[in-house]
Amino acid sequence: MEKLNMLYEGKAKKVYETKDADKLIVYFKDDATAFNGLKKDVIFDKGILNNSISSIIFEELKRNNINTHFIEKLSEREQLVKKVNIVPLEVIVRNYAAGSIVKRLGLKEGQKFNEPILEISYKNDSLGDPLINDYHAFALGLVEKEELKYIYETALKINSILTKMFDEIGIILVDFKLEFGRCNGEILLADEISPDTCRLWDKKTLYKYDKDRFRQDLGNVVEGYREILKRLEELR
Ligand code: C5P
Repeated sequence: MEKLNMLYEGKAKKVYETKDADKLIVYFKDDATAFNGLKKDVIFDKGILNNSISSIIFEELKRNNINTHFIEKLSEREQLVKKVNIVPLEVIVRNYAAGSIVKRLGLKEGQKFNEPILEISYKNDSLGDPLINDYHAFALGLVEKEELKYIYETALKINSILTKMFDEIGIILVDFKLEFGRCNGEILLADEISPDTCRLWDKKTLYKYDKDRFRQDLGNVVEGYREILKRLEELR
């Protein structure tokens, strides 16, 4: 399948039309941004690693009956996906305290929650993706009630599947972000799941193998991503 017009360029990916109006090609870039675009860099090979990692994860989710936009990995940096209309929400699942919730609620990093926390934020770069609740989402017409119910149920299912998968490779799934899209009356998991969108800590040492290495200037960013891919490949 060949790339035609570029439809959209985001912070980490480009999206192209194909000759099939229902399918798109996603191209994974090496660009990294944090703090809503304030910190920027190029992380050599990150796009290749994230494409592989996200493809493995989406295949695992498909095997577990999660409906996703993912069709197939096409090349080092490209995957073929179903065209969806993105629901303008970022859905965050948290198992342990890290990142923004630590500051917001004055928690200790690494504290395990009694049960997973689901959060939604309004996907809007110029506003910095503000945290909202269900009432905001319905009142603003961002999502239908039935859709959000399905999104929450699916996010929790994905959390169970991925927590188990990462546990098998010695990794704690601390938290992660999901995006969903509408396609022919269905809600599909969209976007990517990778060390850019998850916090992944070593079970024994709590070493961080995710984008926090970039956000916090911890060094060895790409090595962290490479380790996640290596362990996932060993699992297959
Ligand atoms: O920053 P915060 O702690 O709220 O992030 C929670 C999780 O969601 C982290 O794994 C982070 O990488 C991910 N995230 C993301 N894209 C955003 C915001 C958060 O992938 N725009």
